[in-house]
Amino acid sequence: MAALNATFACIVFLLLLFSSTNNCEAKCFKSIISFGDSLTDTGNLIHLSENSNYKQQQIVQCGSLPYGETFFHRPTGRCSDGRLVIDFLAESLGLPLVPPYIGRKNVGSRNFREGVNFAVAGATALNHSLLEELGIYNPQTNVSLGTQLRWFKEMLSSLCQSSSECKDFLKSSLILFGEIGGNDYNFPLLGGMPIQMVQSMVPLVINNIGQIINEVIELGAETLIVPGNLPLGCLPAYLDRFMSTNKNDYYDPNTGCINWLNEFSEYHNVMLQVELNRLQQLHPHATIIYGDYYNALMQLYLSPQKYGFKSAIVACCGGKGPYQVDISTQCGDSSANVCDDPSTFVSWDGIHSTETAYKWMAQSLISGPFAIPHINELCTFKVYTT
Ligand SMILES: *[C@@H]1O[C@H](CO)[C@@H](O)[C@H](O)[C@H]1NC(C)=O
Ligand SMILES: *[C@@H]1O[C@H](CO)[C@@H](O)[C@H](O)[C@H]1NC(C)=O
Repeated sequence: MAALNATFACIVFLLLLFSSTNNCEAKCFKSIISFGDSLTDTGNLIHLSENSNYKQQQIVQCGSLPYGETFFHRPTGRCSDGRLVIDFLAESLGLPLVPPYIGRKNVGSRNFREGVNFAVAGATALNHSLLEELGIYNPQTNVSLGTQLRWFKEMLSSLCQSSSECKDFLKSSLILFGEIGGNDYNFPLLGGMPIQMVQSMVPLVINNIGQIINEVIELGAETLIVPGNLPLGCLPAYLDRFMSTNKNDYYDPNTGCINWLNEFSEYHNVMLQVELNRLQQLHPHATIIYGDYYNALMQLYLSPQKYGFKSAIVACCGGKGPYQVDISTQCGDSSANVCDDPSTFVSWDGIHSTETAYKWMAQSLISGPFAIPHINELCTFKVYTT
């Protein structure tokens, strides 16, 4: 009966999505462990740059106001005006906001019992040296998914003593794996590499993501959410970079997005889902959830007004031009234009979303329909009492 009540309390809690009370007696997951890039970084890149020469090159991406203005009222390293998908996930599961791995390192591993975030803005799936062999230069960071896996193993060895203790810890954790891989394409595409060449990298990227997911599962992870890529053809930075006049079928008349770029994103996402199905068959005891960010966001691009947005494909913060982005002005520069009300925009800075759009994406993972199975379906089975 006690267990039933706890289950019931948790279901009720999850129905009260995003309510600010954190008093769910039973937690579906004891911890969130996250890998990824700027869609998920909660402070790693800014802490890394405090100790490296990346700092001298440029202001750290997402490291100054107006980043953070809406919720935290200061820059935290999150690439948005406010919270990210991972923050809404943590809130809805009754867990604290997930701390970045870098920067908390010296405070002691106890801090990571309820969550740890390895995501770094600018991170790629493929490693630095392989990308350079392909002629791709990453100006932001040399951190790849492989680096994040190494940090993860380091953290595990300080958090649990035996492999069975580590397995128990991972079993009760929700693993948010991505989005990752987007930057492997962003740098070459925005840098002018032909789409055919970038497309030929997709199997490499997917293979790499699959290998690392496999390792994380073999270490004991049982519940993973793996989001796919965003619709690149709807991002203002891409719309500005690949602006075109009078070409048939270049733009989708329903959204204003660029068709060939969205087809590329869908190609990656299909390949990712094939790989996730393969991994699911290999590990039947695990639950691997594909997070369909592409179609969750597509709802907003198709009917922005219906969801309270003034515009879906114009950036809130950036430069001039029809999409309010231009290469000479970055959000965070003193000369950047910033909209008055970010909650009426889907895009925050031309690449990253506003808090309002991230909330929508999180909601689509938790209660569907853009994640299968939905997290709140899982929680009726998996209740870990604390
Ligand atoms: C990344 O760069 C830092 C210095 O900026 C260096 O200490 C580190 O070893 C590099 N990591 C990799 C994986 O190349
Ligand atoms: C980079 O990745 C490739 C392919 O997975 C691998 O062969 C190589 O050893 C890696 N290099 C480093 C420095 O990690």
